[in-house]
Parts: sequence; C-alpha cells; structure tokens
Amino acid sequence: MAAKRLIFLFFSFPFLLQFHFAAGQNSVKAAYWSAGSEYPVSSINSTLFTHLFCAFADLNSQTNQVTVAPANQARFSSFTSTVRSKNPNVRTLLSIGGGSSSPAAFASMASQASSRKSFIDSSINIARSYNFHGLDLDWEYPSTPTEMNNLGLLLNEWRTAVNNEAARTGTLRLLLSAAFFRNSDYYTLVYPITAIRNSLDWINVMAYDFYGPGWSNVTGPPAALYNPGTQVSGNYGIRSWICSGIPENKLVLGFPFYGYAWTLVNPNNNGFFAPTTGAALTPGGDVGYGQIRSFIAQNNATEVYNETVVSNYCFKGTTWIGYDDTQSIRAKVTYCKQNTLLGYFAWHVGADDNWILSRTASQTWGS
Ligand SMILES: *[C@@H]1O[C@H](CO)[C@@H](O)[C@H](O)[C@H]1NC(C)=O
Ligand SMILES: *[C@@H]1O[C@H](CO)[C@@H](O)[C@H](O)[C@H]1NC(C)=O
Ligand SMILES: *[C@@H]1O[C@H](CO)[C@@H](O)[C@H](O)[C@H]1NC(C)=O
Ligand SMILES: *[C@@H]1O[C@H](CO)[C@@H](O)[C@H](O)[C@H]1NC(C)=O
Repeated sequence: MAAKRLIFLFFSFPFLLQFHFAAGQNSVKAAYWSAGSEYPVSSINSTLFTHLFCAFADLNSQTNQVTVAPANQARFSSFTSTVRSKNPNVRTLLSIGGGSSSPAAFASMASQASSRKSFIDSSINIARSYNFHGLDLDWEYPSTPTEMNNLGLLLNEWRTAVNNEAARTGTLRLLLSAAFFRNSDYYTLVYPITAIRNSLDWINVMAYDFYGPGWSNVTGPPAALYNPGTQVSGNYGIRSWICSGIPENKLVLGFPFYGYAWTLVNPNNNGFFAPTTGAALTPGGDVGYGQIRSFIAQNNATEVYNETVVSNYCFKGTTWIGYDDTQSIRAKVTYCKQNTLLGYFAWHVGADDNWILSRTASQTWGS
C-alpha cells in the first residue's frame, strides 16, 4: 500500500507540474465582480484568483447586440488593466446577462441565425475593445425545448466565430464560458450537452439559491453541498452534469459569498427547515458575508456548522441566517479537488469580508 502510494506520488507530481506550465489553464479559481455592488474594482485582491468575471454586459433586445450601460463603461473598459495591476496573470471575462436580464430577449436573439450573428460579432468586438480575455453567457434560463436547442446553436456558432477571429487576427483566442443552472436539466428541460461540451471552455454551475425567503417559507441551507433525500444540492447538480456527459475538467462549482435571512416563527425551533414568517434584515433576505459577520459580532449570535449538509447558519432571537462560512468553503473546494473539477467560482467578490472566504478558497485549492 505504502509503496504503491509512493510510486503514485513520484510519478504524478512532476507530471502535474509539467501540465501546469504547458496548459496554464488547468484550474479556475474565480469570482464574479458585480457592477451593482458598487464595490471598487481597484480594491479587488486579484492575487487570490486566476479568473475574474466582470458582470454584467447587457443584451439590447432591439439590435441583438451586446452593450455596456453608460454608467458601467469606464469601470468595464479599465477592468482588466485594474485587476492586472495586482496580478498580471489574472484573466478576465465579460459576463453577459445575469439574473435580472430578460430571458425573453435571449430567447429571441437565439431564435434566428441573423440575430445570433449580431450577438456573437458584437460580443467579440466588445471583448477585444475592452481587453477582456473571454466571454461568459448568463442566460437565466432557456425555458422551452426550442430555446435549449437554440442555445446549442448559439454556442456552436460562437465557438466557430471565436476560433475564426483568433486565426484571422493572430491573437490568443477568447475564452468562452457560461453560467448554468445547478443541474444539467432545468427542471424538465435538458441542456444541449453536446454543444456545451464542444463549444465551451468550461461551465459555471450555479450551486446556490436553493432556499431563500422569496421562495421558501422554511429555513434551509441556501447552497448545500449535500441534502439527503432531495435533488437540491451542489453534489446532486455536479453528478447530473457529469452523468449527462460533461467532463469533470469543464465543471466549475459556484458558491455564494452571501446568505439568506428569515424571521423564525419560534426562536427555539432554529435548525434547518424551521417555519418562518418571511425575510429578515433586507426585503429579499439576502445578506452579504461581511454583513453576516457584523450581525454575528453585534448580536453575539449563535453559529452552527453542519458538516453533513456543508452549510453554516447563525441565529439570534427570531433572526436566522443560512450562508457559507470558512468551513463550508473549505469543504466545497476540497470537494472540487477530490472530484477533479476544473475549479470554483464565487458570486460575488464584493460581498466577502476582508478576503476571508476568498483566501480560504484559494489556500484550500493550493494546498
Ligand atoms: C491579498 O492576498 C494576498 C494573499 O493572501 C495577501 O498576501 C495580501 O496581503 C492581500 N492584499 C490585500 C490588500 O489584502
Ligand atoms: C409554506 O409553503 C407551503 C408550500 O408552498 C404551504 O403548503 C404551506 O402552507 C406554507 N406554510 C406557511 C406557514 O405559510
Ligand atoms: C454570547 O452568547 C453566549 C451564549 O450563546 C453567552 O455565553 C455569552 O455570555 C454571550 N456574550 C455576551 C457578551 O453577551
Ligand atoms: C445537519 O442537517 C441535517 C439536515 O437537516 C440534519 O439531519 C442533521 O441532524 C444535522 N446535523 C447536525 C449535527 O445538526
């Protein structure tokens, strides 16, 4: 046993090192930066990441072109040079769409070859003129079989266009990624797996927002890694993507740098799946990790880590918050490594508290 392990180490270590230098792209330690957070780009500690996503560019539903809102143009066009000043190796991707964009506009754009071309050509132009290294699609969500099929057409055509542009201009080709639902099916609709596998460098699996006061009247682990007896967990989602045919090295697990706060019906019934009367602290109950740490400190709240589920929660009186603290982040990044996933990403970098979660993730991956 011991001899076997030694041999494995002996051979695998130089191989891994070599792979590191040759590919330079064999891991993704990433986070999104959200323009809406108003977190200053210049404050991002980019040494903790290999990739940063700049969110979000918009889809103009009239022209089907990718645009950047006037209020975002200065920050987006200097994003890459700003984050590279601290880490010259970090790569940046412009993320298009997001949770508050119109899924109907994406569905319409993807439905015709001519509008897909407008989208694709404008996305490449904007990525190049703003000096991004790649593009990221965040269409939440295709919601008919036809839309899923059109997503596949879009991805295939995007890949061809990106390859052609690199060949034509002699530049390093743009990276292409997309943020998808936690599972390889969006409820009953299956994602276009072959197109995804062939066209994207990787996919960001949004393994969060499982429970929140907007859609659950009981508390719950908002980004559980495991959730026995349900299909609502990061592990279930990652398994579904692998079973559908996406290789592990194209999967990037997402986790939240925020949690959800509920008001408990009974302060003494304060575990998972406890009845609530709705959101606490903010209208939607969403609270950034930094605010959660302040809440705990100011209220001397009780903190719990459930390692079966891989989720943290805290409570004080009738206020209950589910979130990911360092233990959850460490367990999830370890999971990514053990399952040979490409990496992890966080939404979003401005919600961290003094780089605690970003550093925990980076160190866990690196050690
Ligand atoms: C950024 O992170 C690195 C690595 O943990 C650390 O050495 C450095 O002090 C951090 N910088 C800031 C400004 O927090
Ligand atoms: C919570 O939601 C479930 C399902 O939506 C519903 O059946 C139940 O009555 C609700 N409970 C409360 C206390 O509102
Ligand atoms: C904080 O709460 C714990 C129990 O949860 C208690 O033992 C401790 O005295 C409290 N500290 C303060 C400063 O209120
Ligand atoms: C963790 O959460 C699960 C699911 O609610 C529960 O069954 C289990 O008892 C919890 N573990 C601990 C140690 O509280």
